[in-house]
Amino acid sequence: AQPALIDPFGRHVSYLRVSVTDRCDFRCVYCMAEDMTFLPKRDLLSLEELDRVCTAFIDKGVKKIRLTGGEPLVRKGIMTLVESLGRHLKSGALEELTLTTNGSQLARFADELAGHGVRRINVSVDTLDEAKFRQITRWGDLPKVKEGLKAAQKAGLSIKINAVALKGVNDTEIPEMLRWAHGEGMDLTLIETMPLGDIDGDRTDQYLPLSVVRAQLMDQFTLEDIAYKTGGPARYVRVKETDGRLGFITPMTHNFCESCNRVRLTCTGTLYMCLGQEDAADLRAPLRASEGNELLNAAIDEAIGRKPKGHDFVIDRRHNKPAVARHMSVTGG
Ligand code: GTP
Ligand code: 5AD
Ligand code: SF4
Repeated sequence: AQPALIDPFGRHVSYLRVSVTDRCDFRCVYCMAEDMTFLPKRDLLSLEELDRVCTAFIDKGVKKIRLTGGEPLVRKGIMTLVESLGRHLKSGALEELTLTTNGSQLARFADELAGHGVRRINVSVDTLDEAKFRQITRWGDLPKVKEGLKAAQKAGLSIKINAVALKGVNDTEIPEMLRWAHGEGMDLTLIETMPLGDIDGDRTDQYLPLSVVRAQLMDQFTLEDIAYKTGGPARYVRVKETDGRLGFITPMTHNFCESCNRVRLTCTGTLYMCLGQEDAADLRAPLRASEGNELLNAAIDEAIGRKPKGHDFVIDRRHNKPAVARHMSVTGG
């Protein structure tokens, strides 16, 4: 086996997030502008190439792979990649293969995902109000997403709902979302909006610190700290009244970079060592340069060797420029 991926701060990289496409069938207001320029299709890695890069990471000790986007289920042929990566679950080299999706295509793919070894998925639902859902996603259809959730549960998949906390949009709905998610046997994580890429509105208007949400929830609910860990950034509590798990993802108010275990691959083969930094490594050239993996492995090691300490996100009136120019959909969150 090769030496494990350890960064300059002693952090072990065991989680690879792969944005299989930067395209999406929604345009969530905190994520994208309505009019987006996507990466040119000719620059895409093929599904075979994505599999090869993922496998190289698994050979280096990565235990968890999450497919993201954009919307991963709009990438043509995506089930081929899920199936081929599923072989690493069977061999035991990979512990978790999962995805983060907007749920729009889930009804179609739930059975196949489960069949290839996926056990748990994360689905973004920021509101339970159909009209508001359409506003946030710009044209998404909530009933269709709910159908997808039902199909996923029927297929035996565990679900975590992701909701970005948005001031004046879904803040008053959070208790209801909590009861709904837990009532349906799903976890819920709340996320602070992060300043990635230009959007059509002002992020300062949307930003809602989760410290505020937590304090409000504590008027109605008993939140008990628990040790539950997924390898992701959320800190979880158990809600006594609903007997479900609630996670807080707090890049803005409670930085979690110290325990970062992940890197991100884009659909064009660029590796970002931090969600909040511009520095990146090209893996496509070394991947394509030869059939063997020597150059690719060397490029991965070199990249991990310069993983930065963390992000410098700020959201306030004086900083109206995003921390990084690229949108979340390029690196998949
Ligand atoms: P679990 O495996 O369920 O823990 O998932 P996850 O939280 O790792 O993944 P998911 O795709 O559901 O991401 C939820 C939110 O966490 C998204 O908004 C991501 O952008 C954010 N997130 C994940 N990793 C990082 C990170 O390293 N830094 C920051 N700032 N945000 C992250
Ligand atoms: N800040 C925080 N979360 C975001 N997401 C997309 N863009 C942003 C942003 N700017 C969320 C999506 C999805 C997850 C992968 O990231 O809602 O749940
Ligand atoms: Fe698409 Fe997800 Fe971005 Fe919404 S948050 S536009 S669903 S990639």
